[in-house]
Amino acid sequence: MNIACLGYGVVGKGVVEMFTNDSRINIKHILVRNLEECPLAVATLDIQDILNDESVDCVVEMMGGIDFPYHCIKESLLRGKHVVTSNKAVMAAHYEELLTLAKEHHVQLRLEASVGGGIPWIHSLLQQVRIGNVYRIEGIFNGTTNYIFDQMHTRHEEYSKILKEAQSLGYAESDPSSDVDGYDIQRKLMISSSIAYKTVVDMTKFTLASMRNIQLSDILYFEKYGFRCRYFATSFVEDGKYFGSVEPTLFEQTTQPACVSVNHNLTILYHDTLGVLQLVGQGAGRYPTANAVVQDILDVYEEKWSNIQMEKELTYDDSLSNTRLCICTSEEGLDVFDAYLVRKEQVGHRYYGWTMDLDNETKCQLVNEASKKDNSFFYAVVR
Ligand code: HSE
Repeated sequence: MNIACLGYGVVGKGVVEMFTNDSRINIKHILVRNLEECPLAVATLDIQDILNDESVDCVVEMMGGIDFPYHCIKESLLRGKHVVTSNKAVMAAHYEELLTLAKEHHVQLRLEASVGGGIPWIHSLLQQVRIGNVYRIEGIFNGTTNYIFDQMHTRHEEYSKILKEAQSLGYAESDPSSDVDGYDIQRKLMISSSIAYKTVVDMTKFTLASMRNIQLSDILYFEKYGFRCRYFATSFVEDGKYFGSVEPTLFEQTTQPACVSVNHNLTILYHDTLGVLQLVGQGAGRYPTANAVVQDILDVYEEKWSNIQMEKELTYDDSLSNTRLCICTSEEGLDVFDAYLVRKEQVGHRYYGWTMDLDNETKCQLVNEASKKDNSFFYAVVR
């Protein structure tokens, strides 16, 4: 089968390397930004070389970004080419349109590598939705931020130092705010939830909290009470309604999420006959992500079709969620929560409080107000 790779960065290089000496797959073109970036004769600067080449059966998009990849994917589908992508940003932004286009043109649009790196997560979801209902998904969907929390707990070093390390290891997005402000996880939760609930969820409704204000003193405070912090995503459906959130979350030290180390991801689904399925693996990095891309390409080659459904209509409902929080802030920031606190204390310059159960609307209002009073405000949900 002839393929064209779009992008020769961290993932693209891994995919090309994994197909060296593989007679099943012929890489006909590699789209690059400049020819110095790639020493191979098949490198090109012009997407038209690929779109106009009728012998290309499958386009493999690994560029990142939204607008240009969207154009490339759309044009490829319109010309009857299968597409494999690792790009969660473009899929979350144009999910319904691109999947509908693929169906209309009788080609595959596969996206295993867009969520969970090397974990066969999308595959597991699609397998389970064939024979019943997935009603909840949750987990750790970002390698960079798990690396940061894990290393802050393990080595007791500051956030900025460990973020730089994660970037140099090739886990982080080029724009770090995608990782540390939760947008990357929000997109992955959108894709996973839409597949799980056979619908198209509105990710802008998800409750989203940044992790960028975490301080080493907060980590030490959580440990004093036996907790570890993880950047955790949850979504669930109840009676035709759904809820979703992406928030730093505290887990007791012996629980599974607290033990997920380095850049690993943890993906969990709840199914009406299977029960709970948990998968742990490398969520970021060249070879794990390339592995997922290669699996998709081989599925196209072997003519194994994936069937993503979108027919269910669900509405978003904020009132489905109640959570307790641990607040890390200034004296003024903590005052905002005063009527809802069950315990508070001061450690050095930082003020800490533990809330009673809060409905989501109240929680978001209080968090907004406190963030205006203290620009180092941080909270974590307590599980
Ligand atoms: N920046 C992402 C992460 C890459 O750290 O998980 C994989 O999606």
